[in-house]
Amino acid sequence: MNNAQALINEKGKGLKGFLPAIFAKQMGDGFNKNIGGKAYIKLTAPKSYVRNRANRPDKWEADVIENKFKSAGYEKNKVFTADAKHKGKAAFRLILPEYYKKACLNCHGEPKGEKDITGGKKEGGKLGELGGAISFVIYN
Ligand code: HEC
Repeated sequence: MNNAQALINEKGKGLKGFLPAIFAKQMGDGFNKNIGGKAYIKLTAPKSYVRNRANRPDKWEADVIENKFKSAGYEKNKVFTADAKHKGKAAFRLILPEYYKKACLNCHGEPKGEKDITGGKKEGGKLGELGGAISFVIYN
């Protein structure tokens, strides 16, 4: 354990670069830059769970998350689609719910407020709970 500690600490330093959410954001930003304004993709989350302000849901996303994905009867993993505006432009919008898996709870689980390995605060999330959403836009 003592021997491993140095390695764990070392890994911790570079960890941010390997976070799924950071990877997703970089991928999304790259996609958005290269797609020439025809489409847009982003990782977002329920408002109460957002750590990075850049990932905050817009009005449409927040509405789907709170009133569809979180509603008791909503089918798990079901994509929601609609014709709706994005940044003022008419678009086809698609949003996919993401649920916390066991591995996610190391950082997003309980106890709420405790520091995770990245130094951020844990959300107090539970296994299978809605933790985020992938939002995709194709402009008309
Ligand atoms: C090693 C810790 C760690 C693990 C494991 C982890 N996350 Fe995260 N997650 C973070 C951090 C830190 C952020 C904030 C990233 C940033 O600053 O952009 C984040 C951000 C997010 C976001 C974007 C919304 C926000 O808060 O900005 C979602 C959605 C998310 N995580 C879901 C998950 C899911 C689902 C899993 C499992 C598949 C997971 N995370 C695994 C640490 C982690």
